[in-house]
Amino acid sequence: KQHQKEDENDDSQTGINKASKGGLIYGDYLQVNYSLSHVRDERNMLKVNTRIHRIVMIFRLLLDQFAVLETMTALDFYDFREYLSSASGFQSLQFRLLENKIGVQHNQRVPYNRRHYRDNFRDQESELLLHSEQEPTLLQLVKQWLERTPGLEEDGFNFWGKLETNILGGLRREKEKIEQKPASEMKEEMMAELIKQRDIFLSLFDEKRHDHLVSTGQRRLSYKALQGALMIYFYREEPRFQVPFQLLTSLMDIDTLMTKWRYNHVCMVHRMIGSKDGTGGSSGYHYLRSTVSDRYKVFVDLFNLATFLVPREWVPKLDPSEHTFLYMAECCD
Ligand code: TRP
Repeated sequence: KQHQKEDENDDSQTGINKASKGGLIYGDYLQVNYSLSHVRDERNMLKVNTRIHRIVMIFRLLLDQFAVLETMTALDFYDFREYLSSASGFQSLQFRLLENKIGVQHNQRVPYNRRHYRDNFRDQESELLLHSEQEPTLLQLVKQWLERTPGLEEDGFNFWGKLETNILGGLRREKEKIEQKPASEMKEEMMAELIKQRDIFLSLFDEKRHDHLVSTGQRRLSYKALQGALMIYFYREEPRFQVPFQLLTSLMDIDTLMTKWRYNHVCMVHRMIGSKDGTGGSSGYHYLRSTVSDRYKVFVDLFNLATFLVPREWVPKLDPSEHTFLYMAECCD
């Protein structure tokens, strides 16, 4: 009775629940199920970038939580591990959805107990996962956006054609410079180094090789998208490419942070259960360790592009008065 009386006079409880009356609920406001629609109207770039950056910050937070978990010892964990019986981290629907939405490819996944990852889920969850594989992924949206990078048009600025000409010319001039030097061990070494460099660049302009690497999963972007990404790297100082460059950087951050998360998880599991099997029946530590790999790096191409950076003089020159693609169109759609 006393309690009831207190409740009645409690200002902290005088509100009326509105959620049950319909209308907007918080999950709707946050657009929890809203997938990133893409860019086109370039004024949206800031929003896209801001949100991706927010995701990066969330991943940072997830990574930091390991420090707290690691204050638990293996013996503390042993006391209640039995209670977890057949439960397993592998059953995390949300983590698999997250991976799929970003663009982890199901045929690139390490098999879990020799089974397809989806077989570990029940009907409804399995369907959600299948659906998330079929929806456009972040990778696909980024790929399409990169393919539209202004300046790639062969009948326009023709970035790729110009770049190939410049690189081949640059390598030829390097070769001539080295050839003029008197014979020495150093000259031999420089020549060997140059040949290595040349092979790397020749591979960049080999579209067939690119397509082969895509078919084996070692590359994930289309040839055109790769060109767009390299273009954004080279011209990152141009106002139109500054925000796109930041976006590419954040996408790599996401891959890096997820890889670090996996690695922290591996180390924690090793510390808790050694090399025993997991509660869900996996090989535990060994399985997890195999997922800390480039197979799970969705934006692996953005990392590998650093292989193809060239001296600034080799980058095709831009003339702001001639190359109007440097400015965004008046408007859109
Ligand atoms: N925003 C435009 C679009 O989405 C043009 C564009 C595409 C763009 N890719 C880009 C601009 C990369 C700068 C960098 O179609």
